[in-house]
Amino acid sequence: MKAIFYASSTGNTEEVAEKINEKLSDFELIDIANDGVDKMNECKTIIIGVSTWGEGDLQDDWEDCLADVQAVDFRDKTVALFGLGDQDGYPDEFVNALGIMYEEISLKGAKIIGHTSTEGYDHDESKAEIDGSFIGLVIDEDNQSELTDERITNWCSSINSQV
Ligand SMILES: Cc1cc2nc3c(=O)[nH]c(=O)nc-3n(C[C@H](O)[C@H](O)[C@H](O)COP(=O)(O)O)c2cc1C
Repeated sequence: MKAIFYASSTGNTEEVAEKINEKLSDFELIDIANDGVDKMNECKTIIIGVSTWGEGDLQDDWEDCLADVQAVDFRDKTVALFGLGDQDGYPDEFVNALGIMYEEISLKGAKIIGHTSTEGYDHDESKAEIDGSFIGLVIDEDNQSELTDERITNWCSSINSQV
């Protein structure tokens, strides 16, 4: 089984998850606010979508499910992550939740795919940036919505070639 797990407070992450789902084949789309993360245990390939709230915090539904995510055995799973944030409003905590989620999952042994370039973004600090790259797809609907479709298309073609 392959699935996209997402949560969304104002609908931005949901919209991006739906667009990603249109470009990939055979993924189930799961809103964790309704269905939780139990199905991660059945998946070989997982995509996770998370937005950043507060001052660099996980979105609430992900916060609520974090213990369940930590209980998943990721050792035989391939995971790609995408995150939404606001680089103008939160330049020191830009898409931090993406980095928080990455840390949880990579620690548990997942194979992580879908790193992207930081080129074209203007921020000071981000937990999602490691060794000069973002550890997943980064979308900023608040400031760069005109770039969203192209970013999704490029990322999905890279994901499609790996899963
Ligand atoms: C109160 C508030 C706090 C936020 N905190 C951050 C933050 O710390 N870092 C960041 O990159 N974006 C932050 N954002 C921006 C959201 O992550 C962004 O608007 C995102 O698209 C929301 O996605 P969602 O509606 O799917 O939850 C914040 C937005 C609000 C309104």
